[in-house]
Amino acid sequence: MQNILITGGAGYIGSHICIKLQENGYQPIVFDNLSNGHRDAISNDIPFVEGDIRDAAALNKVFEDFRPAAVIHMAALIEAGASMVEPARFYEVNTAGALNLLEAMRRNACKHIVFSSTAAVYGNRDAGLLSESLEVSAENPYGRSKAMVETMLGDYASIYGFHAIALRYFNAAGADSMGRTGERHDPETHLIPLVLQTAAGQRDHIKIFGTDYDTPDGTCIRDYIHVDDLADAHVKALGHIISSDHAASDIANIGTGEGCSVKEIIELCKEVTGQDFTVVEDSRRPGDPAKLVANPAKAKEMLGWQPKYPSPRQIIEHAWNYYQTNLLKS
Ligand code: UFG
Repeated sequence: MQNILITGGAGYIGSHICIKLQENGYQPIVFDNLSNGHRDAISNDIPFVEGDIRDAAALNKVFEDFRPAAVIHMAALIEAGASMVEPARFYEVNTAGALNLLEAMRRNACKHIVFSSTAAVYGNRDAGLLSESLEVSAENPYGRSKAMVETMLGDYASIYGFHAIALRYFNAAGADSMGRTGERHDPETHLIPLVLQTAAGQRDHIKIFGTDYDTPDGTCIRDYIHVDDLADAHVKALGHIISSDHAASDIANIGTGEGCSVKEIIELCKEVTGQDFTVVEDSRRPGDPAKLVANPAKAKEMLGWQPKYPSPRQIIEHAWNYYQTNLLKS
């Protein structure tokens, strides 16, 4: 069985990927500083190393101890809004941390990596669906911190023979379809879990950040991608790079190709939960692009990937099931 190092593996998306890796015959090794992740989000048969990607010695030791065949690099700061306030932290963790990891890989002759990139690299565009061939033009330091890593991966491929795939996630949402793991950020900043907390009576209201965008209902449009489908994309990307031994650096969008506005998400949450609640129209959140919707054709063609759960309603249903079973009782 091949060991796969997964940085940030105890986080929301990482814990789903661990399940999928095991189901597909890989042995995940989790490296996570638990700043956002949870030790109990991964099962006890997965080796867990508590460590920080900024710590080169700790990373080196993981490679020596476990000799991973490939890396899935998820560990990062993820809140676009926070990056507008503290950009240095994002460059330090997301960009310099990734460089540390790439150097540890190079030193230990591990050349296969799937990188967690983001739709935030596209920024505000007039384009309809966003394709990988567009120039990157991030709206915030978060997106730029990830775009820089994509550039580094290109150099590590051409100079050191790495085989890398950067997956540009659109908006990860939902929970494991069997309810085994789900989203529990603290503090929570993402739209769907915040709306569900409001529906459950744990918040007084949900705020809409901006109703004057150039979109049909004035609120931001995003492409919500089920976290199970996102995890599946990683396993497919891993299979793709492990099975071929050439140097390359590819990029693929992971989204559904369909957009949903903030107001539409709130309405769907009301329908799924059967609850009404207060919605407050607030000003724009700095750094938010009006619309981010993927052209997912490349992931389909290159990885044979397509979403099993493309409907936002189903995404919200799975998130609500997880929320009711695991979070409401605590
Ligand atoms: N929003 C609200 N009210 C809230 C929270 C969010 O109106 O209380 C809005 C935001 O302004 C945005 C949309 O809901 O228009 C989605 O916001 P999220 O915070 O859920 O997600 P983001 O689009 O800001 O960012 C997420 C991830 C990033 C990733 C990006 C890719 O956090 O890591 O999706 O599209 F890069």
